[in-house]
Amino acid sequence: MRLRALTKVSSLLIREGNNRMDLEPQKVVDEILNPILNKLYTSHTKAVDYKSPEELKQIIDFSLPDQTTSIDLKDIKQLIQNTFEFTPSTQHPFQFNYLYSKPDFVGVLGDWIISLINSNVHTYEASPVFSMAEVELIKNLAAIVGLGEDADGIFCPGGSYSNMMAVFLAKNRCIENEDIKEKELVIFKSEQAHYSIDKAATLLGIKPDNICRVSCDKKGRMQIRSLRRQIEGCLSADKKPACVCATSGTTVLGGFDPLDEISEALSDYGRIWLHVDAAWGGAVLMSAQHRHLMKGIERADSMTWDFHKALNAPILCSAFLVRSAISIKSMFHVYDSYLFHDSEPLRQYDLGRKTAQCGRRGDAFKLWLMWKVRGRSYFESRVDKSFKVTSEAIKLIKERTAFWLYDENPAFWNVCFYFVPEHLRHKDGIKACSEREKLELQAITKKLYKCLNKDGRVLVNYAEINGDPPFLRLIFGNPELSSEQIKDVFDIIESTGNIII
Ligand SMILES: Cc1ncc(COP(=O)(O)O)c(C=O)c1O
Repeated sequence: MRLRALTKVSSLLIREGNNRMDLEPQKVVDEILNPILNKLYTSHTKAVDYKSPEELKQIIDFSLPDQTTSIDLKDIKQLIQNTFEFTPSTQHPFQFNYLYSKPDFVGVLGDWIISLINSNVHTYEASPVFSMAEVELIKNLAAIVGLGEDADGIFCPGGSYSNMMAVFLAKNRCIENEDIKEKELVIFKSEQAHYSIDKAATLLGIKPDNICRVSCDKKGRMQIRSLRRQIEGCLSADKKPACVCATSGTTVLGGFDPLDEISEALSDYGRIWLHVDAAWGGAVLMSAQHRHLMKGIERADSMTWDFHKALNAPILCSAFLVRSAISIKSMFHVYDSYLFHDSEPLRQYDLGRKTAQCGRRGDAFKLWLMWKVRGRSYFESRVDKSFKVTSEAIKLIKERTAFWLYDENPAFWNVCFYFVPEHLRHKDGIKACSEREKLELQAITKKLYKCLNKDGRVLVNYAEINGDPPFLRLIFGNPELSSEQIKDVFDIIESTGNIII
């Protein structure tokens, strides 16, 4: 990489041995970035090297100096090396904890470009290329979803923010209607929907009592009968059902709510905004084979779709899509003239008009670049391969008596299971366990989670739903995993389990 042109504008005084010198961008690339990149893709030591805050303080000096006269190059390198070393590695093939993993490198390049250009994507004048790339993306995404000609959207700083936009629009639509202006507004979500919906509702002034939790079936899907009951309860209390937040790809089980059935049910109760939080599961729309999981999505009023999760754009990259462009374009009527010079309120490329933010990062650009370089079929093949990897993992779990799957046939890439001690293995799953045995499984899962993460070879998570004991949750979103690697992972988990009991 040649970055001489930037040398004079951005340099940092450093010391190398006894010589003081400038840390030029080219030097940053040669001395710091290249070694990191070489190491990042060639060596995989631990997935996690956990340190407590006290331990980390002993390793990294977090204090900030008054003077910035000079710093050793080797100190900078060490600092960066430590930052990598003590952050759970998303590059590592055995990282199964998070809904995100190794970022796509074209996306990383896009991210660097965004930082180097350092412009705000609020007006066309400030960021013409980023703005046009984002508009093109929104058009393509809305077409994939099937939201129709009038669709629109905006990229948001994360799925939680996108969900907040949905609750805001739903609330706005109710407030505009004179007949229900005075009524209390109610939001419905499944009991397994993400907590960002509750946060959004709370931030937007919905009372906690008016955030209704609809029960789910065993696979984490919203139950229609329960939804109907809750809506009817709300109506008989003379409140207004403002929004149903369905989920495509729940965080713990990867459940997909039945969107067609939900829309059908809602049509019996007048106008209720249907939002679909597909932050995690939206990726299935890229696949001809798997998009049936979101059948009915074209009937939604809005949708959240995070590309930094299942499709590996670097964090953050979240699209918020709406079926009716006017709903998002008219959501804010405050445009300061220092920024929005043009009086025409609906200028297509002034994206700052469609969000509560002023400053906006060009997060859409990294996805646009990924798509441009790799083509849409790349996303489809990633998704299809990850489903195959997950099937392989399920098959391998079923072959072992030491594991019980929580859901024998998960819809998505969330694989949830128990490590079972020898004396319980003859039992017919968790439902056949006594309360005492359930407590034993609870203790084992928690201990196993701690031991695995301390050991560091495999990074996993655990979760708990339906009042059942907590289970291990592994996310199989890495399409590059081989059968041998998956087998190694289960060997590590099983042998660690056998040691701790
Ligand atoms: C289903 C779902 N929705 C929303 C979110 C929030 O997304 P973000 O972390 O981008 O705010 C998450 C996060 O895991 C999620 O799983």
